[in-house]
Amino acid sequence: MDATIVPKVQKHYPVLLKEIISVISPQHGGTFIDCTFGQGGYSKKILEFKNTNVIALDRDIESENIANQLKDNFENRFVFKNIKFSQLNNLKLKNENIRGIIFDLGYSYTQIKDPQKGLSFESGGELNMQLGLNSYSAQDTINKLDEKKLEKIFKFFGDEKEGKYIARNIVKERLKNKIDTKALVKIIDKTKKRKNFKVHNATKVFQALRIFVNKEISELIFGLINATKVLKKDGVLGVVTFHSLEDKIVKHFFKSLSENKSISRYSPVTKQAETLFNLKQKKPIIPSNEEISENPSSRSAKFRYVIKKTDFYNFDTDIQDQFRNLIEIENYGDEL
Ligand SMILES: C[S@@+](CC[C@H](N)C(=O)[O-])C[C@H]1O[C@@H](n2cnc3c(N)ncnc32)[C@H](O)[C@@H]1O
Repeated sequence: MDATIVPKVQKHYPVLLKEIISVISPQHGGTFIDCTFGQGGYSKKILEFKNTNVIALDRDIESENIANQLKDNFENRFVFKNIKFSQLNNLKLKNENIRGIIFDLGYSYTQIKDPQKGLSFESGGELNMQLGLNSYSAQDTINKLDEKKLEKIFKFFGDEKEGKYIARNIVKERLKNKIDTKALVKIIDKTKKRKNFKVHNATKVFQALRIFVNKEISELIFGLINATKVLKKDGVLGVVTFHSLEDKIVKHFFKSLSENKSISRYSPVTKQAETLFNLKQKKPIIPSNEEISENPSSRSAKFRYVIKKTDFYNFDTDIQDQFRNLIEIENYGDEL
């Protein structure tokens, strides 16, 4: 999905819905966690199967309106929690029979259309970018963080080659005026020497700011860790990603735990070299041409999944070490 362009499609399409349902098999019943409820596309479909329960999460309180409709229809089988998915372990699910946990990362078309959220450089809204339950906005970031830190955010979260010069010009400009969405786009346009006619000049910087403001890397890493804990044996953990950074994290996490990691040293089980996940498919599942032509925003979606092989709660993973530099950059937000 393009990070910040308002999609032309004006209808909600749950991405890769058919493929995900076929992988998580709700026809056998059980409890499923929809970590990114959004418009409720996945939750609704799962609830169509008898004997299923859904626990849905979303950090955006506006999702609750749609969740309330589902609550009316599936009173005893559906709960919604307005929390970040990194907090999944606080839901006391250790003894629940969780059969599947799904993440569909990013934002929905209603969020990108909402000028108050300020996700898009096209929406003309505030420079906000908070999806919900945040501590600071893109406005705070651009107007308060020092030049070197801004440069790193643009480089590591947006792969913006000219981030250094953009950061320099932001810092110069903000001495004169507070920077809003329009002003930021203008600075980027003026700074960038490499013009790309296919992608808007501001795309990479806007993607980087959205990742930083919502701490998307830390959210994903702790979301994956906590989802792994609460899932039951033979349960499916699946993630839909939309950009390469997210996909790299998911791919590493799934691959490393499908190879040769051992059960946590805190666990009473002492078996060595036991793999925790079964990775059925190395390559991600991607949308069909038919889905892409109906919903072009789905074109960059990648779905990866694993199956939990045994019951365990605590486990060892190197995921935090592997992506420590990115977590540290997100932690610049602590000073805002
Ligand atoms: C792409 S939409 C999900 C669409 C959904 N699958 C559907 O079919 O309607 C992503 C949703 O995840 C939510 N989200 C993003 N990061 C989150 C996080 N860390 N914790 C909880 N929700 C999050 C967003 O607010 C957004 O509503």
